[in-house]
Amino acid sequence: MRTCVSTTDLRAWLEPIRREGRRIGFVPTMGNLHAGHYSLLDIARAHADVVVASVFVNPTQFGPNEDFARYPRTPEADAAGLAAHGCDALFLPRVEDLYPYGASRSVKVVVPELADVLEGALRPGHFDGVATVVAKLFNFVQPHVAVFGRKDYQQLLVIRRMVRDLGYPIDIVGAPIVREANGLAMSSRNQYLDPAQRERAGVIHAVLQGMREAARSGLPFAGIEHDARGELERNGLVADYAVLRRAEDLAAAAATDAPETLVALVAARLGTTRLIDNLSIAAP
Ligand code: PAF
Repeated sequence: MRTCVSTTDLRAWLEPIRREGRRIGFVPTMGNLHAGHYSLLDIARAHADVVVASVFVNPTQFGPNEDFARYPRTPEADAAGLAAHGCDALFLPRVEDLYPYGASRSVKVVVPELADVLEGALRPGHFDGVATVVAKLFNFVQPHVAVFGRKDYQQLLVIRRMVRDLGYPIDIVGAPIVREANGLAMSSRNQYLDPAQRERAGVIHAVLQGMREAARSGLPFAGIEHDARGELERNGLVADYAVLRRAEDLAAAAATDAPETLVALVAARLGTTRLIDNLSIAAP
């Protein structure tokens, strides 16, 4: 596996690959890689000839009171894991390459509306940071295809919309959520949980499944959301939201919407750890 720290090095390495007409797949990450990330690599590999992964803990997507400083950084394990999973190149951009004028003075990519609801409403500026860094990474890597996990469902929609609106010639693939045995969606933040909390956090997936069943059986959406919040809270989680939204744009679900067009989304805190998850109502 080639490791590229400078953008010049990355471009030089990619240039002959591009010239030969080989397809470049890209998996952007913030490191601290787990089985969920490695599944993205496998999917990228299935869509491309060469797979590039980036590891960059992006300061602009963290709010002032969020966990940027304590976000887990495990560079050696990440490099070893990527190499073992057949990654061809690891891009480790430097802050000065991505933010040459400083993070606070960067040009911003703003995706209106979609970036302002749910996570965006609770974490103002978060998706501006995500869209901005992903746009910059896309400019450096210029992949044919990029893979994003569906766990960050809103992020996936934001990226898709940015790609379409800015005309990037990149296919965006959404990858299925990888779960622990108890249903907990894999996330770097799970390691903040102690073993008892980790077990308890499995209730989030159970609640999402309950929301799916209830929506499919025609129960009123408001009642489903109310019951979901109650179930989370009975299990010691503090719900930021437990909602049914339109899968295509996260607009509030109307009574006339077919359940299969919806997605259930939960964000909840367990102790000091904030967890998000979602489930399509359409999927089996
Ligand atoms: O999902 C993530 O890990 C990050 O939001 C991303 C897409 C790598 C941008 O920093």
